[in-house]
Amino acid sequence: MAAIINSAVPLAARSLSSRATTERVPGCTGVRAAPRSRATLRVRAEAAAGGVGNIREQAARRVPLEKNSLFNAKYTPFNKGDSGEEYSLDEVIYRSKNGGLLDVEHDMEALAIYPPEYWKALFDERVGKTVWPYGSGVWSKKEWVLPGISDDDIVSMFEGNSNLFWAERYGRENLKMSDLWVKQCGNSHTGSFKDLGMTALVSQVNRMRKMGKPLAAVGCASTGDTSAALSAYAASADIPSIVFLPADKISLAQLVQPIANGSLVLSIDTDFDGCMRLIREVTAELPIYLANSLNSLRLEGQKTAAIEILQQFNWEVPDYVIIPGGNLGNVYAFFKGFKMCKDLGLVDSMPRMVVAQAHNANPLYRAYKNGFENFEAVKAEPTFASAIQIGDPVSIDRAIYALKETNGIVEEATEEELMDAAAEADLTGMFNCPHTGVALAALKKLREAQTIGPDDRVVVVSTAHGLKFAQSKVAYHAGEIEGIVGKYANPPVSVPEDFGKVMDILSQRLKQ
Ligand SMILES: Cc1ncc(COP(=O)(O)O)c(C=O)c1O
Repeated sequence: MAAIINSAVPLAARSLSSRATTERVPGCTGVRAAPRSRATLRVRAEAAAGGVGNIREQAARRVPLEKNSLFNAKYTPFNKGDSGEEYSLDEVIYRSKNGGLLDVEHDMEALAIYPPEYWKALFDERVGKTVWPYGSGVWSKKEWVLPGISDDDIVSMFEGNSNLFWAERYGRENLKMSDLWVKQCGNSHTGSFKDLGMTALVSQVNRMRKMGKPLAAVGCASTGDTSAALSAYAASADIPSIVFLPADKISLAQLVQPIANGSLVLSIDTDFDGCMRLIREVTAELPIYLANSLNSLRLEGQKTAAIEILQQFNWEVPDYVIIPGGNLGNVYAFFKGFKMCKDLGLVDSMPRMVVAQAHNANPLYRAYKNGFENFEAVKAEPTFASAIQIGDPVSIDRAIYALKETNGIVEEATEEELMDAAAEADLTGMFNCPHTGVALAALKKLREAQTIGPDDRVVVVSTAHGLKFAQSKVAYHAGEIEGIVGKYANPPVSVPEDFGKVMDILSQRLKQ
């Protein structure tokens, strides 16, 4: 086993010299490998050190992990049964024969050839570098994401590796908590966690187009963030993209993103659920690849945020992870990331998963309240958390499964609660989007109910950057939202160009 471990450990982490006979594995105390020839060491050292050519060319010369060819993944039905149904990831397929969801299933036995310490060392070694494509938080876990794809087919913007923000002041002063964290998935290329999934999906589309599959374009229905991510990744790979958006239901920043990236943008007079129905009909007729989270490829990229959280905690498992949920793909993606780490022995438990929904779009919350006995889609009402204004979530089965497996919880937040929670936390240095506001409001309720204790380690998943939702935040602070008091509003003070008047205002404020 020692030889297996060492031979595949990233080279940059090893101390190489032309005379070296033994190499140490980072994170694997005391494990030593067999000697290597000078030539092998030289080639590998060159790849590890960068060498000539751009980073793709360097990646093409890199020696793959020794057991790499054993790793593989395929589509199987989410509700497996015993049909034995399975498909290659190179097939254009979104549903199982009976119309159910598909899942990407990895060969876990093959991955288990390497022990947990090996994977931890490998992932840790790759973090945040410019080595193609491992500098990406998603592709640093490539063997667990899309093991079969060539590095050259990958379309990446070095996404992921988002910071885990210790909410010290907000936790201490507002919630009496000491171990509260916010996973800033919105600190990303297009400003939301969607980049994590889109790099996986667009890379696979890129591969299939190179294989000659007749895929003229990629397309999606979106509440704003999916279309932003799809258009950016498609543009980067020179793949045409088409996005269906519900007219007047997304933020200006979200709307301008696919426009700027050259997508064909259809602004449709309906809601997200209407756009989703249309895109499914269209992709059944035309060679447009469906990029919604119905497509399980996306979830493979998104699950790496969960693995990253564990890695950032030095492989300790948090007690709770709170995720704002709409179409409900992300909660399952997080579940899958945590589960893979547990199944492969990197950690020994799972966090309790909490889904937070807006009261105005709360079909999962309603199902939770009736013990998941039955699920009914709802007509989603407008919410400031516009990206989760979804009444008929595609991934409902996936979400319920994840919640049942982790003794999970669903909580909801009214418009006032979510805007107040975002604003209250902003006052401690954050800048939250309304979806993160939904998660923070859910946390507040769970703290008040003492479900979550003062010393529990809690991660709130922030799904988008607050700047994408500046309009609603401005309206909140201006006191312009009907029916909302704006407890934490901090409107700008208008003052003429007059020293005395400026001084009056300042001294008044400093007295408070
Ligand atoms: C900012 C933001 N938060 C949360 C979500 C919900 O994710 P999911 O649809 O996977 O539940 C979305 C999805 O559109 C989003 O854009």
